Amino acid sequence: MPLPELASPRPGPQPGHVYLVGAGPGDPELLTLRGARLVAGADAVVYDNLVSPLILDLAPAAAGRIYVGKKAADHTLPQDEINALLIRLAREGRRVVRLKGGDPFIFGRGGEEMEALIAAGITVEVVPGVTAAAGIAAYAGIPLTHREHAQSVVFTTGFLKDGALDLDWPMLARPNQTLVIYMGVSRLAEICARLVEHGLAPGTPACVIERGTTARQRAAVGTLADLAARVAEAGIRPPALTVVGGVVGLYPRLAWFHPAGEDDPGSAPHAGCTAVHRDGGGEGGADD
Ligand SMILES: C[S@@+](CC[C@H](N)C(=O)[O-])C[C@H]1O[C@@H](n2cnc3c(N)ncnc32)[C@H](O)[C@@H]1O
Repeated sequence: MPLPELASPRPGPQPGHVYLVGAGPGDPELLTLRGARLVAGADAVVYDNLVSPLILDLAPAAAGRIYVGKKAADHTLPQDEINALLIRLAREGRRVVRLKGGDPFIFGRGGEEMEALIAAGITVEVVPGVTAAAGIAAYAGIPLTHREHAQSVVFTTGFLKDGALDLDWPMLARPNQTLVIYMGVSRLAEICARLVEHGLAPGTPACVIERGTTARQRAAVGTLADLAARVAEAGIRPPALTVVGGVVGLYPRLAWFHPAGEDDPGSAPHAGCTAVHRDGGGEGGADD
């Protein structure tokens, strides 16, 4: 992919430095220009499982491509070994690009990697990426804020280190707010129940979007009362993002992304968020 020239481009990657680059949520076109330039000049690219292969293709043919995985239950390399790998590559004088899904500093352990690198005396630059919440909501036609529905937005995780769902439920269940839950699909029923217990109406619109921004994007749309059943029925699986709040009621009118499914024609649906619709559609149900 030829990159457009900027009037005064910043220097490309330097030997012995590590660049923590956000690769975006899936669609390779969501990589920033800075990120693309750094990948194109890298000697070593260390990447996670949600990074598009088309982004890896931007690296020079001779560059090392090292997969370090990261699924909730399957860490290809433990975090301290990833840190040690980055430090070793930088000390060998490589131009190291650490490609992380979405944004490196949002549920990406980018902070931990940066701390380890700085403690080892390695120079680090961070390049932000489009985080899953922003990218996926945009592709699904769900504005995260909207004057009539949500004046604030909260990103939280449904996967805690010790397995407990010990979240600040009264804060998460505030009205007129959009709640985006990363890594929450396996605990969805419990999450929905806790939100209702803490004051959100059972009819609050909610959806789960799988593989957002890719050709395999699909979703289950419902309410807090029935979302878990709809997700199970549709067979929605991680990586998937949960969005809760009145703004989800706009999806039937604003969904615009209709992937052709060219990544995997066998399993792709026909529309951006197709799998299941909330009964009645439209904007109703936002009763918080
Ligand atoms: C370890 S977190 C990393 C988040 C990433 N740093 C970011 O800013 O988006 C991984 C979780 O992000 C969400 N996610 C990332 N990419 C996604 C995608 N394309 N579709 C749906 N969810 C996604 C899922 O909840 C997934 O379990």
